Amino acid sequence: MKISIYYFSGTGNCLKIAKDLSRRLGGADKVALNYLTEKASFTENEKVIIVYPVYIFGLPLIVERFIKNSDFSYSATITGIATFGGVSGYAGRQFRKLTAEKKVKCEGLFFIKMPGNYTPLYEALPLPAQKELLRKAEEKTEKIADSISSNRICIEKDVFFISAFIFSLIYKAAKNKLPSMDRNFWTDQSCDGCSVCALVCPVGNISMKDRKPFWLHKCEQCFGCFHWCPQEAIQYKKSTIGRKRYRNPDVVVGEFLNSGTREKEAKWK
Ligand SMILES: Cc1cc2nc3c(=O)[nH]c(=O)nc-3n(C[C@H](O)[C@H](O)[C@H](O)COP(=O)(O)O)c2cc1C
Ligand code: SF4
Ligand code: SF4
Repeated sequence: MKISIYYFSGTGNCLKIAKDLSRRLGGADKVALNYLTEKASFTENEKVIIVYPVYIFGLPLIVERFIKNSDFSYSATITGIATFGGVSGYAGRQFRKLTAEKKVKCEGLFFIKMPGNYTPLYEALPLPAQKELLRKAEEKTEKIADSISSNRICIEKDVFFISAFIFSLIYKAAKNKLPSMDRNFWTDQSCDGCSVCALVCPVGNISMKDRKPFWLHKCEQCFGCFHWCPQEAIQYKKSTIGRKRYRNPDVVVGEFLNSGTREKEAKWK
């Protein structure tokens, strides 16, 4: 039976889970979600796994679009793996609701707590705390891989219905604003025009003009540009000034470059 792992990742947590799962599942295919892969159709009896970060208690818009637009008529099962920094909110129920609407059998739903990357609210955890969370995440990935390879149905307990309902209201109120929330990004004087931000953006939302990035208001809010900037020159409003950035230590920027950029000619030095 074919197993495919689709992932969306801004700072590498979901990519790390996807890589570990792929290795543990005998080299299962790994596909990054970006503007080139907004939908898919699957072969007969294919097991589909989606690894996604929680954004404002729900699913990233691109992941929601991917599930809605894809053709699951032949695939055997779907499994969702949500990584989150503190509160998964509505992201589990939303995944189950979407997959039920597509009439695909949900075989697994898992939550993995990982270092948070939402710097407007908090800075990166100290390294020992990151290390401990990442070690636990590796252990959990091993268990998830066992569950998937033995075809067990495993739906992890989610937040209470009433809490999920409240989180869903917050998510729904915020989701339409996400694409234009890039208006809050700006660059300080340390920007040297290297274009890394444009190259890592999964949806080609950054254009370079006169060696400065411009955001095009179709943002996924993955914060990849913000965290991968080698100069830490990108800020979000004022609260991020001086705060430590986060990148998963088991991924490198090269795994994100050209993932969805429309600035192919830009060079990374
Ligand atoms: C815009 C945004 C919103 C987020 N919202 C939540 C949230 O509601 N709850 C939570 O626990 N973590 C939240 N996070 C943290 C991420 O879900 C978490 O760090 C995730 O593991 C990042 O995955 P990645 O490294 O693959 O991008 C948010 C992060 C971003 C960038
Ligand atoms: S990655 Fe940073 S330094 Fe490079 S162009 Fe973008 S903002 Fe400027
Ligand atoms: S502009 Fe930045 S935050 Fe928005 S999708 Fe691109 S990399 Fe992610």
